[in-house]
Amino acid sequence: MHKATTLLAIESSCDETSCAISRDGVILANIIAGQAVHEQYGGVVPELASRAHMQNIVPVVDAALKKAGVGLSELNAIAFTQSPGLIGSLLVGSQFAKSLAQALAIPLLAVHHMQAHVMANLIAPADPEADGAGWPATPSFPFLCLTVSGGHTQIVLCHSPLKMEVIGQTLDDAAGEAFDKSARLLGLPYPGGPLIDKYAREGDATRFTFPEPQIPGLNFSFSGLKTAILYFLQERTAKDPGFVAANLPDICASIQGRIISILLNKYRKAARETRVTDLCIAGGVSANSGLRKAFQEMGRKEGWNTFIPPFEYCTDNAAMIAITGYYKYLAGEFAPLSASASARTEW
Ligand code: KG4
Ligand code: ZN
Repeated sequence: MHKATTLLAIESSCDETSCAISRDGVILANIIAGQAVHEQYGGVVPELASRAHMQNIVPVVDAALKKAGVGLSELNAIAFTQSPGLIGSLLVGSQFAKSLAQALAIPLLAVHHMQAHVMANLIAPADPEADGAGWPATPSFPFLCLTVSGGHTQIVLCHSPLKMEVIGQTLDDAAGEAFDKSARLLGLPYPGGPLIDKYAREGDATRFTFPEPQIPGLNFSFSGLKTAILYFLQERTAKDPGFVAANLPDICASIQGRIISILLNKYRKAARETRVTDLCIAGGVSANSGLRKAFQEMGRKEGWNTFIPPFEYCTDNAAMIAITGYYKYLAGEFAPLSASASARTEW
């Protein structure tokens, strides 16, 4: 008889405390507690984030086990986000995961957050009929993933679930930071990405033009765009203090449109150079409605099979930690109890 593999996974790298339960790679529960405490500061305050993780972790784990209908004795291993992220936040999740693994005498799986974002594309949809357009539900190897989050922007060439290669990345700001910093200049609260997305839906993206940087190879840069937006807003508001309020949808649509074209022009270059035709997007910014639409349109023109994780698996979540942990479990890649959390990005 097939013995099911049941995992509990914890994600706590930034400002979301999340716990997921998976069985044989299928997600049974994915509970995410956000942290509203950062809104007023215009960004995540690390010390406040760790404190909120400490308050949230037990109720979130409890809720995930209840939702999945799984008891602690049924768990085969505990997966956790080891790196990268805010060190205080990572420590809360990793210490909890290690204590639980030790108490239950089951193995520990240490997961890289950026690899997990990519792996969100391998989570089988709960309803296989719902994956649209007739493409298979999950990409075939080798595939490319454009991972766009608050801290990273990477083009990743995926050879197998556990073998991934970063072939392009940002030289300065991440795409999510470009959204969040632009939003801040517009007087919008943190995180501004979803708000720019919302206003952009009503706006005209051709109204204002921002520069596209010429960066060699498959790398990105967003710092020039940020400066261009700052100068543009300073100049316009000097003439008309009500400029932002009167033009918010068009400004948001124009900023978003440029961020999307920077991302997708490089992604198309990567696809043409590698001749890979299964392409994914992942990370918080892949929740952006404009990016999702433009990516699918480019995919149709270029003949790609395009894959986008469901919304709940785009921004930080423990389901992606569970699916990555599952592949590590199958490969026997266990971590010792001495495995420590790390803020560093290296894979
Ligand atoms: O992956 P994620 O949840 O956390 C990190 O690992 O960084 O990404 C968070 C980022 C934030 O910058 C947030 O503004 C951005 O994702 N984001 C969006 C949208 N939803 C989240 N950016 C643009 N449009 C959205 N709809
Ligand atoms: Zn993330």
